[in-house]
Amino acid sequence: MAVHGRMLVMQLIIVVVIAAAAADRTPSPQAIPGCPDHCGNLTIPYPFGIGEGCFQREGFNLTCNESAEPPTTLLGDGSVTVTNILLAEGELEILSYIAYDCYDQQGNQTEDMYNSPSLQLHPSFTISETRNKFIAVGCDTCAIFKGYLPYPHDEDRYITGCVSVCDSLDNAVNGSCSGIGCCETSIPSGLKNRSITLDSYSQHKDVWGFNPCSYAFIVEEGRFTFNPKTSFEELNNTEKLPMIINWAINEGSCALAQNSPGNACKANSNCVNRTVDNQTEPTGYYCRCLPGFEGNPYLPDGCQDIDECMAPSSPCNNGICQNSPGDYSCLCNKDFKNQDSKNCIENTSVPKNMPLKISLGLSIGIFILVVLIW
Ligand SMILES: *[C@@H]1O[C@H](CO)[C@@H](O)[C@H](O)[C@H]1NC(C)=O
Ligand SMILES: *[C@@H]1O[C@H](CO)[C@@H](O)[C@H](O)[C@H]1NC(C)=O
Ligand SMILES: *[C@@H]1O[C@H](CO)[C@@H](O)[C@H](O)[C@H]1NC(C)=O
Ligand SMILES: *[C@@H]1O[C@H](CO)[C@@H](O)[C@H](O)[C@H]1NC(C)=O
Ligand SMILES: *[C@@H]1O[C@H](CO)[C@@H](O)[C@H](O)[C@H]1NC(C)=O
Ligand SMILES: *[C@@H]1O[C@H](CO)[C@@H](O)[C@H](O)[C@H]1NC(C)=O
Ligand SMILES: *[C@@H]1O[C@H](CO)[C@@H](O)[C@H](O)[C@H]1NC(C)=O
Ligand SMILES: *[C@@H]1O[C@H](CO)[C@@H](O)[C@H](O)[C@H]1NC(C)=O
Ligand SMILES: *[C@@H]1O[C@H](CO)[C@@H](O)[C@H](O)[C@H]1NC(C)=O
Ligand SMILES: *[C@@H]1O[C@H](CO)[C@@H](O)[C@H](O)[C@H]1NC(C)=O
Repeated sequence: MAVHGRMLVMQLIIVVVIAAAAADRTPSPQAIPGCPDHCGNLTIPYPFGIGEGCFQREGFNLTCNESAEPPTTLLGDGSVTVTNILLAEGELEILSYIAYDCYDQQGNQTEDMYNSPSLQLHPSFTISETRNKFIAVGCDTCAIFKGYLPYPHDEDRYITGCVSVCDSLDNAVNGSCSGIGCCETSIPSGLKNRSITLDSYSQHKDVWGFNPCSYAFIVEEGRFTFNPKTSFEELNNTEKLPMIINWAINEGSCALAQNSPGNACKANSNCVNRTVDNQTEPTGYYCRCLPGFEGNPYLPDGCQDIDECMAPSSPCNNGICQNSPGDYSCLCNKDFKNQDSKNCIENTSVPKNMPLKISLGLSIGIFILVVLIW
């Protein structure tokens, strides 16, 4: 019983110590004071915000649908669902509709959303060309993808697409969108909004037994893997898939912003140019905390120093951690010396067996002490 009691006390002490360490690292606020900072479990960082006075500029107004389960975050006019806000990358993960086109055995269209609700984005947003793919799935499928580019003239039309025609899925490659049952293409940068059109050559009559529908969508790379056995049914039961859009906090380049009072990047942050392929002049910019700083570069106080020494395990082996703005260094223990400011290595000029003797002596001492206490 007595032993049990003592163990409990020790565990309690450990728990208290851990709790105290955790409480020291309160995350810096992400929203304007007094504004909601989350919707469901999604954190809403400024410049995005829910309600009047909480977002920085037009297009960054979010609404939280609390009656949905789980609550959903909607962008702008409410047609776009936001599932993640990647502040440091200037990216949003949103859900966008899958286009589909289905036929019956006679070749009559049964269900179609082949003119899928087009994705209309505020001018601050463009579809990420590096993080998404355009994919079409089907065996009698011609998928066309239209969008608008801001260059070389405002709102030039852009059309691309891919075709997949096959008599069976026997040669389709599991896990690879290689042209049999599935085709994919990349998209250009700077795309403003998009619409998807689906067409077929023989109304799926020849393939109806195994493939009555065509599907097409823009999807975040890695979030859709073609499987000839399961993909058709999976897509039939999916309404939306994730894609990544880029945002810029302002038009113009960093060079312009840095000389203007309207510079959106506050203390201890960097400005990052948002460039569209082929265009030499950046179309906009976003902000990022400097290395060694954390927080929100858009809030008036900007980014705060990270106290690296407060981390659960000290970054300094064999030394004492010393924090400095944006950085830290290690003050090495006795018998160790700085390899560089962050690493301590053994001081080889010290006689080799000395540390061993010291540590041996020390552990014996501690052992005797423990025995005495018990
Ligand atoms: C939010 O909750 C959903 C389930 O409700 C979960 O799938 C998702 O991973 C959670 N996201 C975060 C950032 O915790
Ligand atoms: C934010 O968007 C919602 C939905 O579109 C709208 O009702 C609301 O008025 C907007 N708020 C502001 C401050 O623009
Ligand atoms: C909010 O979610 C509920 C439940 O899913 C839905 O019925 C309602 O239309 C949504 N409201 C808006 C504004 O999207
Ligand atoms: C299917 O299309 C044919 C003509 O192609 C038409 O005669 C027939 O009524 C249609 N069937 C249905 C169920 O709509
Ligand atoms: C196809 O690949 C997935 C993983 O990508 C695997 O789980 C599945 O078993 C594979 N199916 C076949 C028929 O090989
Ligand atoms: C794309 O947006 C432009 C305005 O920016 C609009 O004129 C055009 O109709 C939109 N196109 C589609 C397909 O939504
Ligand atoms: C798609 O799913 C619905 C039920 O969710 C089902 O009635 C329909 O037959 C399915 N269509 C295909 C082509 O699998
Ligand atoms: C941003 O682009 C401008 C114009 O091309 C250039 O002068 C500036 O150096 C760039 N700034 C950064 C931080 O990349
Ligand atoms: C964009 O780059 C391509 C080659 O990568 C070139 O053929 C095309 O003329 C360029 N367009 C503009 C508007 O600069
Ligand atoms: C390393 O040890 C030698 C001998 O004890 C000592 O003279 C020297 O100052 C030490 N160097 C450092 C960097 O501590």
